[in-house]
Amino acid sequence: MAKMGVFPLLSPEEAAAKIPNGATVAFSGFGHAGAAKALPKALADLARCEHQSGRPYRLRVMTGASAHSIDDPLAEADAIGWRTPYQSGAGLRKRINRQEVEYVDTHLSQVPEMVLAGFYGKIDYAVIEATEVTTDGRVYLTTSIGASPTYLKYAERVIIELNRYHSVRLREMSDITILTPPPHRGAVHLHSPLSRIGYPYAEVDPRRIVGIVESDGPDIIGGFSPPDERSEKIARHVVEFLLKELRSGQIPPEFLPLQAGVGNVSNAVMSALGESKEIPPFQMYSEVFQDSLIDLMQSGKLRGVSTTGLIVTPQNLERMYADMDFFAPRIVLRPQEISNHGGIIFRLGVISMNTALEVDIYGNVNSSHVCGTDIMNGVGGSGEFTRNAFLSIYVCPSIAKGGKISSIVPMTPHVDNNEHSVQVVVTEQGLADLRGLGPLQKAKAIIQNCAHPAYRDYLHRYLEKSRTGHIRHDLDSCFELHINLLEQGAMLPDLDFSQF
Ligand code: COA
Repeated sequence: MAKMGVFPLLSPEEAAAKIPNGATVAFSGFGHAGAAKALPKALADLARCEHQSGRPYRLRVMTGASAHSIDDPLAEADAIGWRTPYQSGAGLRKRINRQEVEYVDTHLSQVPEMVLAGFYGKIDYAVIEATEVTTDGRVYLTTSIGASPTYLKYAERVIIELNRYHSVRLREMSDITILTPPPHRGAVHLHSPLSRIGYPYAEVDPRRIVGIVESDGPDIIGGFSPPDERSEKIARHVVEFLLKELRSGQIPPEFLPLQAGVGNVSNAVMSALGESKEIPPFQMYSEVFQDSLIDLMQSGKLRGVSTTGLIVTPQNLERMYADMDFFAPRIVLRPQEISNHGGIIFRLGVISMNTALEVDIYGNVNSSHVCGTDIMNGVGGSGEFTRNAFLSIYVCPSIAKGGKISSIVPMTPHVDNNEHSVQVVVTEQGLADLRGLGPLQKAKAIIQNCAHPAYRDYLHRYLEKSRTGHIRHDLDSCFELHINLLEQGAMLPDLDFSQF
């Protein structure tokens, strides 16, 4: 058998054949970055062959977070029976919503602890993308750290996907540590976004490596469309608000570290922050590093970023690889239990900005379940940032689907982040600062400042007719908009949709 150092060199097909039906497989990958690529395809082929022969083949699949190169082929081959902690693939989403796949939608920082505590059972295989593995078990990861260090430590068997495409200098960004389980967990001595507390490699017992698979290709990461008018308006509201906070001294003159979720709106906000002359150069403590941050960093506005993955298009990644002398000292790649650590987010005073599907008039946020039933992606890392941030901001357009949906509703049928943690809501219509407001004042601010004018009267009327209590609600009609949407295709079917 061919060898790679002391480890057997396997073709993707040979490696796939080792993984039996029903196995729990923990893959590397976060936000599609650093995800295994060759083996998932071979596993999908294997599943198809097994299904054609009348035999079952479905895996329990774990990752750091979303990963197209894993979810797309495996979902298409009906090879996933159980999935955690996060996904964003159209094919897998459909199967989850048909209840063909059991999906455990989990706070991302909790995954390593869940594994360590044994809540997910044993991990049969870890499949981890790396730039190098040494004979004594040092594994140098690629574009994401995610939960890979924990998977490498606790999996019974390990397959390494050695991807030649990536820069070996990624290790200069990596800072890896695994937290000790309670009750002996000590303080995490991280006092600024760029602090380093670990090692540039993850560790594995080399006796558990059953083989190396070679691959050579970039992460599957699409670009963002240029910001539309709505995203630009949202971005302007956010920047004006942060400037007001800065001028009033609520945000200190040196500014606070920012966290920004993925997506077009978030990219627009980051670009607008970069263009503002009054916002001082700042740092980020975030879970993703996305395309818009490259220019910001090169302009000097963004001084440094802590993240768990480089979620950038291949063209932009190549730009970074070509100038690692510049980028490596300014970016730290961490495991997701550290990039999303509630205590550190609180300590650093992070300003968090995440995206909602819908927000109710009291500030409860639904980011994951359309009409309370159908999964979009998942809670992701939004929970740990929102709950622990110095300032937690939610953004979304005021309407979706050409005005058939209002993103401001009387009550969200699913809550990912609740009114106790959500402090500021922003749509293209304006901004509601909920800090210090009681429920009725919150409702008035959200309806007046954030709801689309076409939905404001309905929402005001809802408030007026609702039963008075600390929080006003009318339990008979709180989901009327959602029921209309499901039954008639629009939340307010009589609106003139040409106005939007
Ligand atoms: N009801 C139903 N559908 C809605 C909706 C609502 N209230 N609001 C938006 N949508 C639809 C949009 O029309 C769009 O549909 P399409 O794909 O068919 O065009 C889709 O939802 C996504 O909306 P978009 O405006 O493109 O949002 P986005 O790309 O910024 O994503 C979330 C928004 C909420 C789905 C996304 O941010 C997410 O998954 N968040 C949870 C995870 C998270 O916050 N992680 C944080 C750290 S990275």
